Amino acid sequence: MVQKLARSITTNQHGVHEDTAFYVRRYQHTDFKKPVADHSREAFDSVAELVSAWRGEVILDSCCGVGESTAVIAGRNPNALVIGVDKSAHRLQRNLQHKTKAEGQTYYLLRADLNDFWRLAAEANWVLAKHFLLYPNPYPKQKHLQRRWHASPVFPSVVALGGHLTMRSNWFIYLQEMAVALRCYQRAASVAELAENEMPITPFERKYKEAGQALFELQADLTVEAN
Ligand SMILES: C[S@@+](CC[C@H](N)C(=O)[O-])C[C@H]1O[C@@H](n2cnc3c(N)ncnc32)[C@H](O)[C@@H]1O
Repeated sequence: MVQKLARSITTNQHGVHEDTAFYVRRYQHTDFKKPVADHSREAFDSVAELVSAWRGEVILDSCCGVGESTAVIAGRNPNALVIGVDKSAHRLQRNLQHKTKAEGQTYYLLRADLNDFWRLAAEANWVLAKHFLLYPNPYPKQKHLQRRWHASPVFPSVVALGGHLTMRSNWFIYLQEMAVALRCYQRAASVAELAENEMPITPFERKYKEAGQALFELQADLTVEAN
């Protein structure tokens, strides 16, 4: 069977969207009032007590898809409580081998809408040690800026959760925009091309690599306000 190679980003936007800072600031000081979905609250409640009693590091793998990266992260951080969240039950149910243990360490995969989950976690004063957001949907059409995480009303919760943020994308501009958004919160970020010899840790990463696409990574310490 011939496998189709991942298509590269097609976009009518050729740089950071000029309205990025406008939307970030619009939501920076306004409450996101959309009601939280029951299933998201249930998912949050299922780990809330564990997290509040936990004395070690908490790591979130947001948009974890099938949870492959969650397993890798858990294996690399054996003393941390690692939680993967995705809204797709279909994805979470696939690749069951990733689902239980990574090198002896248990981690959790939850089905929730991150528009809800991040808010609930921030309201509960979770403080993350690390936060991974690997290959979020890029929404590359110019008119879809507000669908990107940094230009959405939930973004203040992402910043409030703190920790060291690692994001990856095959669209450089997405990460550049995220860096602009973080600057509105006085958080410094760096964006660089991912090393070619980096072993893929998610199915999307593998697909893009097989198609020969360049991949990019953003790193930001959300705990430190820049000057
Ligand atoms: C491009 S996939 C990347 C999945 C995985 N990180 C990978 O690299 O293989 C984007 C993922 O984001 C998830 N997602 C999109 N919007 C979401 C939301 N509002 N809440 C939770 N997950 C969401 C999708 O279900 C999908 O699994």
